[in-house]
Amino acid sequence: MRVVHTLAELRSHLNAFSRPALVPTMGNLHEGHLALVRQAKPLGDVTVASIFVNRLQFAPHEDFDRYPRTLEADCAQLQAAGCDVVFAPSEAELYPEPQGYKVSPPADLANLLEGHFRPGFFTGVCTVVLKLFHMVQPSAAVFGKKDYQQLIVVKRMVSQLALPIEIHGGETLRAADGLALSSRNGYLSPSERTQAVQLNQALQNMAHSINTLQLTPGDLPALEANATQQLTQLGWQVDYLTVRQRADLQPPPPSETQSSAGNWVVLAAARLGKTRLIDNIEL
Ligand code: PAF
Repeated sequence: MRVVHTLAELRSHLNAFSRPALVPTMGNLHEGHLALVRQAKPLGDVTVASIFVNRLQFAPHEDFDRYPRTLEADCAQLQAAGCDVVFAPSEAELYPEPQGYKVSPPADLANLLEGHFRPGFFTGVCTVVLKLFHMVQPSAAVFGKKDYQQLIVVKRMVSQLALPIEIHGGETLRAADGLALSSRNGYLSPSERTQAVQLNQALQNMAHSINTLQLTPGDLPALEANATQQLTQLGWQVDYLTVRQRADLQPPPPSETQSSAGNWVVLAAARLGKTRLIDNIEL
């Protein structure tokens, strides 16, 4: 496995290949990322993982400075997972001058859910992802479904900008108790870690109610309010806990019936102490 830090090294190494498969990451890798690398391997003739903590997608009060940088351990894990090339540019390499040109995704998709609570987040994501796409020139890229909205935003960017890249979603990996694997789980105290599973349980309960009670869109606001109240009583600060259509993340229209529930996804973001966690399940 080659570890390269500059665009020149990356280009010269990738010259020998025609179909790179890319897994973009911010490092501090866990099994979930490695599963994406394994998924990427058969999609191209060389597997590239990028590691870059992208300042553009962090608001000033967020965890950019304390986001763990663990390059050596990340590379060891990537090598074991069969990755061929790690692209780990410095900030000066990726942003040699202030990034004035940015990719601004459409408000109807990017200003809701995560985008509502983290204004500018998806502009930062799309800008760095497009830049990584230009640098690596992959024919396929894999993004985790845990960041569900990010996956949809990137898919739409690729489609609207006619980029010749296949975007694949990777299933969320979970700890034995159901907590979705995330780099941010490391911020949880031992007691918060025990409690953290409640977020996934709330999603499971909502999905179970929708399926067993045959709920329709008209029933969803009450279901969401009830689940939010229960999590809040357990000590969570809930940003959202909501049922949306998978394709565009809009609320299912009232005209839909229970038979369309297979196209829905239940999404949540909530804070436990100082740690903000997100999760989702497709119905
Ligand atoms: O999901 C992430 O880790 C990041 O948002 C990404 C896609 C690597 C862009 O910085």
